[in-house]
Amino acid sequence: MDAHNSERHRRPLFSSRLSIITVAAGSAIGLGNIWKFPYITGKNGGAAFIIVYLCCIALIGLPVLISDFIIGRRGGGSVVSSFRALAGERSPWLFGGFIALFGSATVLSFYGVVAGWSLEYVARAACNDFAGKTPAEIGGMFTDFITSPVAPIACQLLFMAITAGVVYAGVKKGIETFSKVMMPVLIGIILLLCLRSLTLPGAEAGLAFLFKPDFSKLSAAGVLDALGHAFFTLSLGVGTMITYGSYIDKKEDLAVTAVQICIADTVIALLAGVAIFPAVFAFGVEPGQGPGLVFVTLPNIFAQMPGGYIFCILFFLLLAVAALTSSISMLEVSVAYASEDLGVSRKRATLILATLISLVGVVCSLSMGKYEAQLTFFGKNFFDLADFAVSNVEMPIAGALSVIFVGWMLKRRKVEDELTCNGTLPVPLVGAFLFTAKYLAPVAIAIVFLHSLGMI
Ligand code: PHE
Repeated sequence: MDAHNSERHRRPLFSSRLSIITVAAGSAIGLGNIWKFPYITGKNGGAAFIIVYLCCIALIGLPVLISDFIIGRRGGGSVVSSFRALAGERSPWLFGGFIALFGSATVLSFYGVVAGWSLEYVARAACNDFAGKTPAEIGGMFTDFITSPVAPIACQLLFMAITAGVVYAGVKKGIETFSKVMMPVLIGIILLLCLRSLTLPGAEAGLAFLFKPDFSKLSAAGVLDALGHAFFTLSLGVGTMITYGSYIDKKEDLAVTAVQICIADTVIALLAGVAIFPAVFAFGVEPGQGPGLVFVTLPNIFAQMPGGYIFCILFFLLLAVAALTSSISMLEVSVAYASEDLGVSRKRATLILATLISLVGVVCSLSMGKYEAQLTFFGKNFFDLADFAVSNVEMPIAGALSVIFVGWMLKRRKVEDELTCNGTLPVPLVGAFLFTAKYLAPVAIAIVFLHSLGMI
């Protein structure tokens, strides 16, 4: 049941090694790196948390990423048809494909909302709206904005329209070209921001917070946060890397590509930390205040900093660009499925799916404002529920299924073929990879999963 050869010639392939890295790193690098990583690092006390996070990326994230790539390239289709090609028509493993499909649509529904906020904040920064405001006023502006019924939805829909536009244009002309232009822009902006932050008087305290570990600040919850975030930041468990894996040419080295993506993602997260924490400390702001860190604290800091006006615009632009190269990868999962498995044309699939996902996003957005009471289920508003369902439940399950599938179900010869490019590249670490895929990663994922459900 190995359909990889027959399927391959009909599919678009990324045009070069650089394209694969740019597009997959573009998916990995997003709000997770620039919004979430800094605030969970702040919450968990800094350097010691970062060390645990790096271990999670290397020991669990990397094997899951390699497994996703193997399933995608070997299966040669959408997230569902890749499992079908490898496991068989009626195999229970198709469940793994379907939940990933569901996860990709759900994650995009709430991701689009936060990304919409970043668009609004680019405009506010450009209009110099934060100048002369007290911290309380800037905090109030944020709450008023996200709870209002119209403005955040308009921003979310605009963001979703841009996402759909890129996916509509196709894998090569849209996704590849867009990522290749935007990723250098992103790197340029983040380096500029680091430079500004590091040259502030008192910046050293921020660097010490990031790089001088104090293990007494680390809690069990912090370790689990680190593991959960490793999934989110590498775009694992929602079929993205399986779908992108299917666009990777047979002769590319999957393991090396995966390592490079992990490194790029980690470097950008650390650079975001370097751009943010020295400024946070230089201005004596509390680092552990949670999700408001970039939308409330940073505008405050920028408002007091020399050159803050321009750096504030650049920062939110960075957030929006990073979010876009991720959101296109989320939409591509269901578009590839609908066009390959259901026979809907790619363009039509893009329009229909983007509309449906946006509508769910509208509900997410409304659930934070006036309609919170009506849109609260199991004690969480719809936005938090969607986030919880994907990040804490769906991603760990689908991620575990990927490594278990590759570790236990796929014949060792096929895994070796994929990792060594049919014997043309030496990969002495196949054994180590299989050990991690079979034992280490599934056990670690089970621990996070049970913890997130409050069972351990
Ligand atoms: N990795 C992205 C980020 O860090 C989020 C993402 C999750 C993208 C799942 C695609 C799929 O923001």
